[in-house]
Amino acid sequence: MSANLLELAGVHTHIGAYHILHGVDMAVPRGAVTLLLGRNGAGKTTTLRTIMGLWQASQGSIRFAGQDITRLDTPRIAQLNIAYVPENMGIFADLTVQENLLLAARGARNAAAMDSQRLQWIFGMFPAVEKFWHHPAGKLSGGQKQMVAVARAIVEPRDLLIVDEPSKGLAPAIINNMIAAFDQLKQSGVTILLVEQNLNFARRLGDSVAVMDNGRVVHAGAMAALAQDEALQRSLLGLAL
Ligand SMILES: Nc1ncnc2c1ncn2[C@@H]1O[C@H](COP(=O)(O)OP(=O)(O)OP(=O)(O)O)[C@@H](O)[C@H]1O
Ligand SMILES: [Mg+2]
Repeated sequence: MSANLLELAGVHTHIGAYHILHGVDMAVPRGAVTLLLGRNGAGKTTTLRTIMGLWQASQGSIRFAGQDITRLDTPRIAQLNIAYVPENMGIFADLTVQENLLLAARGARNAAAMDSQRLQWIFGMFPAVEKFWHHPAGKLSGGQKQMVAVARAIVEPRDLLIVDEPSKGLAPAIINNMIAAFDQLKQSGVTILLVEQNLNFARRLGDSVAVMDNGRVVHAGAMAALAQDEALQRSLLGLAL
């Protein structure tokens, strides 16, 4: 069994006439939290979308748990127990929080059939999900919606959880809640890949890190090493912690 759950090798992605990813090499170690950092427009979201099959890689390979998933379509990729929370969270505003989670629960036809032990575990991590269970999700704050989006992604057991900018626009107290939740998820054995702009958030959560620039990974290593190296932070990201 490889130490890496997910591996990208030389991945190129074109969007229409634009060549966006120029040979992305990235490894996501099993059981760890990997942070994907980089300036605006570096290609982070495009990388996640390419992993999920929402864009087709024009070159290179993507391997998950030893299987080549480069040419699989998105539903097949999701069936491999990979969950993806996009930047816009993809929440159904008119549906209640409960209905949003029910839609993601493959085995359950109605709320009573949802795995109640798993729900209690989710409520423990995200109290807002329980508090607003019967409220329309669209009425929740940005931070609460983010909690619902992550909760929905893990309503079924997952091997890999991919989240695009989970800390975006969140107040510090909510960020702490989010960090604690990801930590608990990691303890449960889920491998996590997060895109982040917030270096502080990244440092507190990340085991390993990949930094993108211009459609390539330009640095990869331990998060702790990057967190200690201000010169490297400045050269890669233009700012220090
Ligand atoms: N649908 C699209 N059509 C054309 N160009 C796109 C499209 N989506 C992204 N791009 C371009 O691809 C490049 C990478 O975008 P991407 O969204 O992957 O960056 P990002 O690292 O996620 O940035 P941010 O931190 O701002 O979210 C950018 O130059 C962007 O303008
Ligand atoms: Mg993005």
